[in-house]
Amino acid sequence: MRNQKSLKKFPDVKIITVVADVSNEDAVKNYVDEAVKAFGRIDGLYNNAGIEGKQASITEYDVDIFKKVIDINLMGVYYGLRYVIPVMQKQQFGRIVNVASVGGIRGVLNQMPYVASKHAVSGMTKNAALEYGKDGILTNAIAPGAILTPMVAAAFKQVNPDDPKTAETEYAQRNPTKRLGQPHEVAKVVAFLLSEENGYVSGQTIAIDGGESNIYGNS
Ligand SMILES: NC(=O)c1ccc[n+]([C@@H]2O[C@H](COP(=O)([O-])OP(=O)(O)OC[C@H]3O[C@@H](n4cnc5c(N)ncnc54)[C@H](O)[C@@H]3O)[C@@H](O)[C@H]2O)c1
Repeated sequence: MRNQKSLKKFPDVKIITVVADVSNEDAVKNYVDEAVKAFGRIDGLYNNAGIEGKQASITEYDVDIFKKVIDINLMGVYYGLRYVIPVMQKQQFGRIVNVASVGGIRGVLNQMPYVASKHAVSGMTKNAALEYGKDGILTNAIAPGAILTPMVAAAFKQVNPDDPKTAETEYAQRNPTKRLGQPHEVAKVVAFLLSEENGYVSGQTIAIDGGESNIYGNS
């Protein structure tokens, strides 16, 4: 509902919303079909849906939750590519942004399925760029660091259920900028990558993390 209200801020733009569980292949095929029915083409795909799963060590991780993270974060992104790319091939134009994570570049303690799925997103991005660049389709991934969204707020609650704000403040101190990122700071990069302004960037996983992924050791 929050999203539908914010979309109403753009009354002159034709918008449709289609609900889909991205881990369900038929549901993804349906959202692609509905988009083509409404607009006749698809210029940009933002493959964003993802979950963190629970935080636990490798040997203690709940296998069902592990599979669920893979189904949504990996298979969901794959289904999006599988059904949108043929539409873009027909047009000989397309821009795709898959959402990986800093956890798609490095390990993150106690989040193995998330890290595995996000490394896979980065890998699928490279393959899509290789296989469909000839069709005018540029595919990139973004690797956000900690961005203040409901998912990250929930993670701080897992770290410190009694005082999530303190967990957030402590986490921010590790970042070179001493703060977390804001959603609009991610959106600006994505808007560029999805636009015709991006003419030659493809196959990259672009960190949006205030430089945090470059840290080695204590700082
Ligand atoms: N917030 C961060 O710091 C951060 C960092 C790195 C990567 N990411 C990635 O960014 C993306 C968005 O995360 P966010 O922080 O906005 O989290 P969020 O929890 O606020 O939003 C995730 C969205 O995905 C949707 N979703 C979950 N499962 C779905 C499913 N099966 N089918 C369809 N939609 C589903 C949810 O409804 C929600 O709208 C995710 O892929 C996440 O892994 C976020």
